[in-house]
Amino acid sequence: MTSAAPSNAAPSTAAAAAPAGVVVAETHGGVRVLRIDHPPVNALSQAVRAGLLHALEQAEQDPAIQAVLLVGKGKAFIAGADIREFGKPPQAPVLRDVCNRIEACAKPVIAVLHGAALGGGLEVALAAHYRLLLPQAKLGLPEVNLGLLPGAGGTQRAPRLMGAKAAAELMLSGKPLSAQAALAAGLADRLEAADDPVAAGLAWASALLAQGAAARRTRDLPVPDADTAQAALQALEQETARKTRGLFSPLKIIEAVRAALQLPFEQGLARERELFLECMDSPQRQGLLHAFWAEREVLKVPQAREAAPRRVERLAVIGGGTMGAGIAVAALQAGLHVHMIERDAQAIARGQANVEKICDGQVAKGRLTPQARDELLARYVPGTDYQALAEVDLVIEAVFEDLQVKQDVFRALDRVCKPGAVLATNTSYLDIAAIAAVTARPQDVIGLHFFSPAHIMKLLEIVVPERTAADVVATAFALAQRLKKIPVRAGVCDGFIGNRILAAYKQAADYLMEDGASPYEIDAAVRDFGFAMGPFQVIDLAGGDIGWATRKRRAATRDPRARYVEIADRLCERGWFGQKTGRGFYLYPDGARSGQVDPQVLEIIDAERQRKGIAARSFTPEEIMRRYMAAMVNEGAKVVQEGIALRPLDVDAVFLFGYGFPRWRGGPMKWADMQGLPQVLADIQAFARQDPLFWQPAALLEQLVAQGRDFDSLNRAAA
Ligand code: 3HC
Ligand code: NAI
Repeated sequence: MTSAAPSNAAPSTAAAAAPAGVVVAETHGGVRVLRIDHPPVNALSQAVRAGLLHALEQAEQDPAIQAVLLVGKGKAFIAGADIREFGKPPQAPVLRDVCNRIEACAKPVIAVLHGAALGGGLEVALAAHYRLLLPQAKLGLPEVNLGLLPGAGGTQRAPRLMGAKAAAELMLSGKPLSAQAALAAGLADRLEAADDPVAAGLAWASALLAQGAAARRTRDLPVPDADTAQAALQALEQETARKTRGLFSPLKIIEAVRAALQLPFEQGLARERELFLECMDSPQRQGLLHAFWAEREVLKVPQAREAAPRRVERLAVIGGGTMGAGIAVAALQAGLHVHMIERDAQAIARGQANVEKICDGQVAKGRLTPQARDELLARYVPGTDYQALAEVDLVIEAVFEDLQVKQDVFRALDRVCKPGAVLATNTSYLDIAAIAAVTARPQDVIGLHFFSPAHIMKLLEIVVPERTAADVVATAFALAQRLKKIPVRAGVCDGFIGNRILAAYKQAADYLMEDGASPYEIDAAVRDFGFAMGPFQVIDLAGGDIGWATRKRRAATRDPRARYVEIADRLCERGWFGQKTGRGFYLYPDGARSGQVDPQVLEIIDAERQRKGIAARSFTPEEIMRRYMAAMVNEGAKVVQEGIALRPLDVDAVFLFGYGFPRWRGGPMKWADMQGLPQVLADIQAFARQDPLFWQPAALLEQLVAQGRDFDSLNRAAA
């Protein structure tokens, strides 16, 4: 195939002499097609980089070749650098050199983007001379989500194509642009409504060659908004410093883009490199990468993978309160039909109003169009008669947190639901096996523990009693994905993964308060660590009465040796339940949402200390966090040790997606690994000298320290 014009004749396949298969070279007329074939997403592993480089050089040297086409096989063009290589010594050729080599190629290089062109993948395309988009293309520089910045020329080339301000915004958002938006932004030359990237690319290559198109290098372009970009970047810098509190890479991104304005291309690249390496070395990169990985690994649950999920189209929710309404909206938004059952006509009217209120809120926020709201509500069927559930595929019970009430509901469901229907409970703490036991089909019963607000929060704990069938677990995982939730498998215990660990660190916070730290100091330390709110703010938001009721219920079974802090009870006895009553740990004058320090609360705390003969001591924010986190990690280790969580990463995912744990820290178990487990254990042992019952070290933690291992070694062993 040496004819000058490209043709659609059968290709000659000259597989590049790079590692087998990852970059396949085909010649069509005078065009060499380099097809990246590295499932699942064509990430730029060393083999791909080497393959690309080798095939490009071959094409350049071949006198019969006039142009090179870069195409991805499968659903992605290239999803970026291979994140599995992060943290390991870099292996030649590095991506930056591959991109530079592509740009330097003497023959026109055309990238055809038909799917995800993200991070390093977009950087490859920006280094090419021409870019063609197909409608499903998604172009983005999401490195910020991993604590990085584009490190293969993206911070220098994107500003030359789309302007420095727009490029910085693209990198700071981490969100991809649609094909249409990318074209409008100047990132590509052309958008074609075609399906086959190779055919579309060959046709365009042919047209370009016919016009005498030559290599055209992004590096040689001026930055189009050079006049105004300095001021725009300064404004972005201030906004970013405010919005991305505690994050390292966003400000580095702005610095790198500024280099594109101020420095010649080569020096700009060198500056980008320095900043990239700083990000690569930052602990935040490790935390964010762990979060990315954990979010996907949680899906790898043996039971969910060994069976085919049951079909779910019609769903029912029992109870239309806070949770029932939120769950119903989540399911409606996923396109399901939803029945809702309440106790009586009045209660179902309230349930319906709750559902409509959430939908109206979504419309007001621009997340839903008024038409979509109507379409969604047309699939919602409220009622009071259980007979309506005869044909539903899956039921989620969200009635009062009372075993008796829930068992009655499950008896009714057992009577009316068709065989094979999945029966789920949203209980927060109750024994799901005891709920299942009142039915004749415990194999169909499972816990689906949503978080409030259920139509927003990402986490879904899937609680699996012993007798639950594997295909019910698979169904729960499939439903979670359909609802765009992050499912985490949990075993049955009091509070499952999240609420059980929460109970432990809330207790640590109570001890800190009684020992001398004020709730305001504790909340501030927790916020500085990266949580949006501290534990006492959360209590005020949720309502202090909820925890009070639980404490009263558990009083009879409490270990008499356990330390019990009564400060919260003293507030509840006064009717101070938090925001809804205008005061709790904080004061909320005139319905204010953010609280003020309450001197009377401090007096009550002092009185409690005196009553117990505790001499208040002071705690630094660091001391506060060491106790708070030690309690979280120790209970997390117990949860893993008992098999309630499959792996430490499941605990991390629960806290990242359900409890506002700062993503850049990777989750509590990852945090512990980064501190070093010997340090965490030494802290726990030191605290145990004051209270050996509460601070009993988890056997798993002791074992890992003795073996010189970390939590992540358990994750890797399970992968
Ligand atoms: N490297 C290695 N593996 C990757 C990967 C990457 N960049 N991106 C995705 N994968 C893997 C996932 O881990 C998953 O593996 P698994 O099947 O074993 O769990 C598999 O590909 C499929 O991924 P998803 O489940 O996420 O599939 P989706 O179809 O939902 O999404 C995607 C595809 C949009 C490409 C999404 O995976 C994604 O956003 N990936 C990350 C993209 C990214 O952040 N790129 C930038 C990397 S940093 C960089 O390029 C630095 C450079 O500037 C030097
Ligand atoms: P809620 O009190 O707001 O709603 C409960 C609803 O159930 C009420 O509308 C009530 O009328 C209805 N109900 C009671 N008995 C019924 C019956 N026999 N048949 C039909 N409907 C009945 O309570 P909320 O907060 O929605 O909690 C519901 C469940 O969800 C509880 O098990 C709770 O532990 C759990 N949960 C709550 C979370 C929260 O943040 N509120 C978070 C996660 C789980």
